[in-house]
Amino acid sequence: MPTPLQEFLPRLNALRDRLASTSTTGLFNDDPDRFTRFSVSLGSLVFDYSKNRVDSGAIAVLLELADAAGVAKARDAMFGGQKINSTEDRAVLHTALRNRADKPVVVEGRDVMPDVQDVLGRMGEFASEVRSGQFQVSGGKVRDVVNIGIGGSDLGPRMVAKALAPWQDGPRLHFVANIDGADISDTLASLDPATTLFIVASKSFTTQETMINARSAFSWVEKAVGSAAAEHFCALSTNLEATREFGIPDERTFGFWSWVGGRYSVWSAIGLSVMIGIGPENFRTFLEGAHQADRHFQEAPFEQNIPVLMAMLGIWHRNVCSLPAHAVLPYDNRLARFPAWLQQLDMESNGKAVTIAGDAVNYETGPIIFGEPGTNGQHAFYQLIHQGTTVVPCDFLVAANPVGTDVPEEHHRLMLANCLAQSEALMTGRTLEEAGGDPHKVFSGNRPSNTLLYDRLDPFMLGTLMALYEHKVFVQGIVWGINSFDQWGVELGKQLAQEIEPMLAKQTVSEASNSSTGGLARTILGFRARG
Ligand code: F6P
Repeated sequence: MPTPLQEFLPRLNALRDRLASTSTTGLFNDDPDRFTRFSVSLGSLVFDYSKNRVDSGAIAVLLELADAAGVAKARDAMFGGQKINSTEDRAVLHTALRNRADKPVVVEGRDVMPDVQDVLGRMGEFASEVRSGQFQVSGGKVRDVVNIGIGGSDLGPRMVAKALAPWQDGPRLHFVANIDGADISDTLASLDPATTLFIVASKSFTTQETMINARSAFSWVEKAVGSAAAEHFCALSTNLEATREFGIPDERTFGFWSWVGGRYSVWSAIGLSVMIGIGPENFRTFLEGAHQADRHFQEAPFEQNIPVLMAMLGIWHRNVCSLPAHAVLPYDNRLARFPAWLQQLDMESNGKAVTIAGDAVNYETGPIIFGEPGTNGQHAFYQLIHQGTTVVPCDFLVAANPVGTDVPEEHHRLMLANCLAQSEALMTGRTLEEAGGDPHKVFSGNRPSNTLLYDRLDPFMLGTLMALYEHKVFVQGIVWGINSFDQWGVELGKQLAQEIEPMLAKQTVSEASNSSTGGLARTILGFRARG
């Protein structure tokens, strides 16, 4: 049976072909109110999607598709605690972590909110004690905090910590993720073991990278402070047995639940490093910002619903216009890690080729997500975005006001001008005639973009932005009929690494399954023998 997407594709393709005869600039010329009609506000954020080559007819059909795909029902099932992550038999409830309305959220007959509030309260107490110096490690007050984690146990808190740097008045925060020993060595090189607190962040508490980094950190502290080393560790995990086995007492372990996916976990105990940095109150404001987006997603009609519109424009680009990539371009240096966070959110969620029922999909799913902050990206990959053979839809993110900068206001004004100029250049392009007949200077134009403009980047706005993207990814997963909440694609490589590592340890590669892996392993051993 065809999926709603397959059923709608002929209609959408016809709309695309009809729109191909007009330019996006032409759509603006035809409709002086286009910006007003093709933008939506949420508090002090404006989502402008007017620079996409779509008209109200195309938007209406896309929203009809969202409806037919059952987005509203699926959304209510997620918020309602149903086990929508069917391949792992789990509910998906990161929204409960920021349920500031404190309405009951029932999973298998039990309200999860008291547990959520309990952990948030314990995190708040601990964070305050660390910040005030009431909590001491062997060398006294904590001066540095190192979060050891990877994937969702790193990307969210690392991105948020950088984004909210002006709010940071606690100990210095550091993040270690990579299994490459250079990551932890370089981080520890400038730290004093006596005044460093380590947060071992791992939902499973079995992840290879995190566990080896945690053990190396423990040895480093132990060497300096002996038996007091354990005082320097706390844990964020769902696996209490493993945290205890590591030697971290329950009072310094902050739990969460199987219904919090790794890439959605910064709202849970995984946010502890951020909370220590910015303080519990600002962390709660961050949750409130996300809650605002949750309510908007639940309550706004689809034509005013930012995540639904973002998602359906993405469907238009991916499935109707066959565009393989999507760039996220924050004109905000503190959002430098936002693209990396979004890569995990989007590509780990929607990089799937089978439907929930296990059938192969015969349409495209998640795009390749990439990005860098503007204006840096302008001097790197924008050439391809403007003139390359692949059209790349872009999201521009920008704040009207700078925060916590001590330089002339001109910096921010110039950045804003650059941001607006880029989306305009992508859309309007430059004809051969305008280029003085030089084909090298021609820009095709009609290159689509959205702009997310907000008053300033603060904890509330960051929470809102992140949650809007989470819901966008969710809606697309529903339209594609895939499970956005599992990640089986990361397993095979992990398994093979476990088979290859012993060959390197034993210095014999006879068991290699193919001549490339075998040849490379032998060459590695040769290089290593030479030192
Ligand atoms: O890469 C796979 C993954 O399971 C991610 O989904 C997750 O965020 C990451 O590993 C880390 O997992 P954990 O928090 O269990 O260490």
